[in-house]
Amino acid sequence: MNHWNLYWNNENTLNSFAEGDQSTGYTGEIANFWSNAFSHLSDDASILDVATGNGALAVLAKKYSPSFRVTAIDAANINPHAIINNSNENYQWLKDITFKGNVRAEELPFEENSFNVVVSQFGFEYAEPGAALTHIHRVLQTNGEFVALIHHNTSFISADCRLGIDVLQDILVESELFDLLEAYCEASATLQSEKTYENEQHFQTLNKSLLALFKKMQFECQSEQELDWYNETFKRLVPLIMDWQTLSLDKVKCIKNDLASHKLRLQDQVDAYWSEQQANDFIARFQSQWSSMALEQLTCNEGILCWVLRARK
Ligand SMILES: C[S@@+](CC[C@H](N)C(=O)[O-])C[C@H]1O[C@@H](n2cnc3c(N)ncnc32)[C@H](O)[C@@H]1O
Repeated sequence: MNHWNLYWNNENTLNSFAEGDQSTGYTGEIANFWSNAFSHLSDDASILDVATGNGALAVLAKKYSPSFRVTAIDAANINPHAIINNSNENYQWLKDITFKGNVRAEELPFEENSFNVVVSQFGFEYAEPGAALTHIHRVLQTNGEFVALIHHNTSFISADCRLGIDVLQDILVESELFDLLEAYCEASATLQSEKTYENEQHFQTLNKSLLALFKKMQFECQSEQELDWYNETFKRLVPLIMDWQTLSLDKVKCIKNDLASHKLRLQDQVDAYWSEQQANDFIARFQSQWSSMALEQLTCNEGILCWVLRARK
């Protein structure tokens, strides 16, 4: 959970994986899906968002109807009221949402029949499904609905996620990039304290090796998407190399830890997504506890986006 604690407490962003885009909330297909789901609710409906992160879905609900009563939980130590500042366009919506961190979907601390609807956006599948579903059922009012978007193993999101893991594995472990960077750091410190010809040569050699390694990694990319993953990281590393007078081992380690943490979040996602078989097993196992339960695929122009789970109490 520590990689999620770090993420939600360090980024002025609502979404997971906002290294890409959508740091101010979900848009497009996903936002449309939820607008449609919210349109069936009364204006003052009580809503629970499970595994909310910094509240991207909770904010969508509030934007749809400011009089919705929205509560949002996450197993991570979230605190969006403290983290999201007023430079974020969603700041105003967050204020009226009740957030509870360190709360697992498997142990919801709410009374029976507390909510008209329970929602989850790429979150429910991270929990143990049996225990989480029992609690969701308990806190829902009779005839209330649980609606969740769930990662799909063949979605384009999951494909990109697997690619990201491979690229980060290469950058962090398989290549000599961080060894070179650390050596470059030491060489820059030595050169600044002792400006000899040998120190200058050593520093220049490492500089060239680093830039050559960047080029080699870019050149060997098999697709635009793979190149994007490398370039996202290089965007952070190149300024360090250019600004070598202020370079420090701490700065390098900080980026290395961020990337390792990002890789763990991606790995969580890969471990959480559902295949067709898992989706069918889920329905077979839990359907009887609900008055209705259905799973379907949500698609968009880019292909499969995710699963949609709907279960009515
Ligand atoms: C991919 S993020 C999604 C966050 C948010 N719903 C969004 O769309 O931006 C998955 C979230 O699930 C949370 N999580 C993981 N296991 C959980 C559990 N057992 N109960 C509640 N939340 C959990 C993580 O802390 C993380 O914030």
